[in-house]
Amino acid sequence: MTIIVTGGAGFIGSNFIFHMMKKYPSYRIVCLDSLTYAGNLSTLESVMDQSNFRFVKADICDREAVDRLFEEERPDVIVNFAAESHVDRSIENPGVFLQTNIIGTATLMDACRKYGIERFHQVSTDEVYGDLPLDRPDLFFTEKTPLHTSSPYSSSKAAADLLTLAYYRTYGLPVTVSRCSNNYGPYQFPEKLIPLMIANALDDKPLPVYGKGENVRDWLYVEDHCKAIDLIIHKGKVGEVYNVGGHNEMRNIDIVKLICEKLGKPESLITYIADRKGHDLRYAIDPAKIHSELGWLPETKFKDGISATIEWYLDNREWWETIRSGEYKNYYEKMYGGK
Ligand code: NAD
Ligand code: TYD
Repeated sequence: MTIIVTGGAGFIGSNFIFHMMKKYPSYRIVCLDSLTYAGNLSTLESVMDQSNFRFVKADICDREAVDRLFEEERPDVIVNFAAESHVDRSIENPGVFLQTNIIGTATLMDACRKYGIERFHQVSTDEVYGDLPLDRPDLFFTEKTPLHTSSPYSSSKAAADLLTLAYYRTYGLPVTVSRCSNNYGPYQFPEKLIPLMIANALDDKPLPVYGKGENVRDWLYVEDHCKAIDLIIHKGKVGEVYNVGGHNEMRNIDIVKLICEKLGKPESLITYIADRKGHDLRYAIDPAKIHSELGWLPETKFKDGISATIEWYLDNREWWETIRSGEYKNYYEKMYGGK
């Protein structure tokens, strides 16, 4: 079995590669990543020299490069993690989100049609459902909740989801889609809430909280997300959407205070700043379908996952410090320069 993992030099994609290589040593894993600011090749250092792993630097929007890779590898499965993923950046510059998240997904699926594959899996997000009110804790996103997006990021992901399902209906492409809640864990780029707060707290820098910090996210440890995708590509039904989330809703401010407490840093570092434009209030996934149909349940409790994550950022200071200094961008040149 050959699997192309796009966006595998990013946060969830790299964790997925580690999970798959450990669990299925006979699989061939090919990572396709263009190494945007969010891609860090050093993350993949531990697998880079393994004979069943290959890294290819290319853009998922580059039809020629994608076709060439399909020609060479004849993959069985594609798991598409490659995306522009940060809401704040999408507010500043929507164009690249439309390009990568929509055109890139279509380009990959065109190659799937051309060469034939067993499964195209689109990694999506609960943000395609928009948000829920803070005063209705009884409401959750199910797979039947209408798409109702708020940001250029979530709109581009929703467009990609619809395209993926259209390729199933129109061309019979064997696709699946997963819509997951907020992930946290090792190797998350320090622009997202949890790693940003850990890194800033460790550097005694201000902890910028949007608005009053009352927005709610449904946090899932990254490994549990990887296990869900593993199950879906092996056992999920084609043409289906699966919500992934662990019923772990937390207010932003409570997470930031918890990080301060765990690191022994004063809450006076917390700085309330102007709210994000169009800021979604609450995300909350109903994971009943993936539980009943595929037997998936989250395994990591938030209290354990957050401790492991903080521990990881403490033990791997160099990883995030080279990101903050910009040094990580030279890694590809160093490893592949002249090759
Ligand atoms: P990330 O930003 O950490 O990584 C994205 C990766 O994609 C990077 O390695 C980047 O170099 C690569 N990439 C970007 N544009 C590319 C292009 N045009 N061609 C090839 N590679 C490109 O993102 P993440 O947090 O790991 O998210 C991965 C996927 O999961 C995304 O599709 C995202 O929408 C989805 N998702 C994320 C979360 C979350 O909490 N982080 C939750 C649900 C769903
Ligand atoms: P983020 O990690 O960007 O994920 P998403 O917006 O995709 O859910 O943000 C999580 C929550 O944390 C969101 O409500 C915005 C908030 N937030 C802050 O308050 N300050 C910050 O510096 C960041 C990055 C996020």
